[in-house]
This record gives sequence, C-alpha cells and structure tokens, in this order.
Amino acid sequence: MRNLPIITQLVDAQARKISYLRISVTDRCNYECTYCVPEDGAQMVRRQLLLSFEEIVRIARLCAGMGVRRLRLTGGEPTVRKDLSVLVAQLAAIEGINEIAMTSNAHLLEGMAEPLAAAGLSSVNVSLDTLDPGPFAQLTVRGDIAKVIRGIDAAIAAGLRVSTNAVALRGVNDKQLLALCEFAWQRGILPRFIEHMPMSGGDAYQSSQHLSAAAIRQSLAEELGEELHAIGQSAGRGPAQYWRIGESERRVGIISAMSEHFCATCNRVRLSATGQLHTCLAHDDTADLRAIMREGGDDDALSDAICAALAIKRDGHQFQLDGAGGPRKHMISIGG
Ligand code: 5AD
Repeated sequence: MRNLPIITQLVDAQARKISYLRISVTDRCNYECTYCVPEDGAQMVRRQLLLSFEEIVRIARLCAGMGVRRLRLTGGEPTVRKDLSVLVAQLAAIEGINEIAMTSNAHLLEGMAEPLAAAGLSSVNVSLDTLDPGPFAQLTVRGDIAKVIRGIDAAIAAGLRVSTNAVALRGVNDKQLLALCEFAWQRGILPRFIEHMPMSGGDAYQSSQHLSAAAIRQSLAEELGEELHAIGQSAGRGPAQYWRIGESERRVGIISAMSEHFCATCNRVRLSATGQLHTCLAHDDTADLRAIMREGGDDDALSDAICAALAIKRDGHQFQLDGAGGPRKHMISIGG
C-alpha cells in the first residue's frame, strides 16, 4: 500500500515547481564539438543500458501525472536515435504534455523535420556556433554547415518553431555574433547565445574564452548601433533572458549560467539516456530510475524515487569562472 500522498505538482524544497523534463535519448553524437567533448572523449555505453522507448514513455507519463507539461529531447544528438519520430508520437499522446521540443545540431534534420513535426514535435533549438564553413568544420570536427542550414530551413518549412543556440567563446566565434543574429532574423527565427559552462570537471573549458552575457550585449549593441532592451524570461520556457533590439521586432536570447544566475527560476529535471534522473545540470548526483524499472519496481516506487530526488534538488550551481565547481559529468551524456 502506498503511504505517501498522491503528488499532482512536483515541487522542490525551494518551492520551485517542476514542469519541464529534458530527456536525453542517446549518448551518441555525430559531431564532436571541441567545447563539448572532453579531452579523452566521452565513453559511450552499451545499447542495452540505454532506456527503451517504453521505459522513456513510462517515466514521461509519470512525470506528466505530477505536473510536467513540456518535454525536450536531447542527446548526444537526438536525431541519431533510431525511429525518433515513433518516440515523439508516443510522448505526444501522453495526457498533460502540451509541448515537445528538441535540441539538435540539425545535421540530419533535412530529412527528419517533416516526420518529426507530423509526430507532434513543436520546436527545435539548433546548435549553430559559427556560419564560417572552415571554423564550423574545425569546431564540430565532423560538421557540415551547408547540411545544417538545409536542416534549419527544413524545420522552418515543416512549421517547427526554431531557435539557434551558439556557445559564445572569446577568440572562437566572438566576431560572428551579429552574423549569427542576422542569419536567424532573416529567417524569422530566434538567435540565442549561451555562456560556456565548465562541465567534465572543467576539461573542455578555458577561462580565457569566457564571454559574458554583458559582453555579448555590448558587442551587439555597438555593432548594431542600437540599444538592447530587457524583456525578461519567457515564462516556463527555460533560463534564457530575452532582449529587444531598439524599437524593432528583432529579439535575441542569452543564457548566462556563469555571470547572471537563474537557478531560482529553475523548473526542470533531466533524464539521461541511461535512465538517471539529474535534478541539476551542474551536480553529479542522480537517482537511478532504470534500476528501479529493471528490478520490477512499480509506478509508486518510481514516483517515490522522483520525489525523493526533488526533495534534495540543489539550490543552485557552483560554476566558477576559472573552471572549478562544475560536475564531472559530460554535456554529451545529458544534452544541456
Ligand atoms: N556549456 C554551454 N553549452 C554547451 N553546449 C555543449 N557544451 C556546453 C557547455 N560546456 C551546448 C551545445 C548545445 C547544447 C546542448 O549545449 O552547443 O547547443
């Protein structure tokens, strides 16, 4: 017999409501971005250790019953997981889920945008750090900018809401900020920038490359000759702060975990491809939901584990500008 109350809204110890679940569907990526993959590479796990669609849907359904309304598919690179549209359709059928988003490098999106949209995907954030073909190939190791642009255009044509995400790095793409914005604005989509975070024990992070949200805004304002006006966060849609350019319709989003913290508004948890529930991107503690499922645990056991993990969700992260304070885990295994 269940002895805990039935939970209709997941809330953590800081009274933050959890309404957003990010689901990593694979730890594999077809790109190898230098700022993401650690020095010694990231170990891929055996396929049997990855959650099946059935297991992913089971957890998503339970979370939806406890107040989760938005899902985001991440990786690795989510489009390399076989039959991804089948999973999207299964997730879209869950009562309570009203939005399914994805974060992708768009390499495979040209052929997949249409079926994914038809299955119920509503938006995609495309990682796009530079438009320069040479530096793009260098940064991503196996990337092909032309293919990515075709993927973005296919996503727009399929009716998906599209944003671009660039990890802003001094000396790498700091001269591309405006070009990235203009690329997005020309297509009617939203450009965003992300401050680099020291994941992987700081392995792929260099403090000299840190480009703060304030520096990004200043550089854009100077190049555009216009002021940026704060609009704030987009309610429930994650940590980006949005800025309006002058009096125009153009917008830019900035995700600034390092210099302008947003942990107080965190509304999310993350499920790794191996079924570990991460309640904070920046810490290594997890709850092993796969073990509960594969040992025959029932839904009550699973929900109890989710609630117990949330009860100890961290107040915030300890990322330091010198690269200390982050988790040992790799971005590629949790998908941002
Ligand atoms: N810090 C910030 N963003 C990162 N990404 C990958 N590694 C890092 C990092 N260390 C970005 C990717 C992608 C998203 C999943 O996170 O470029 O857009």
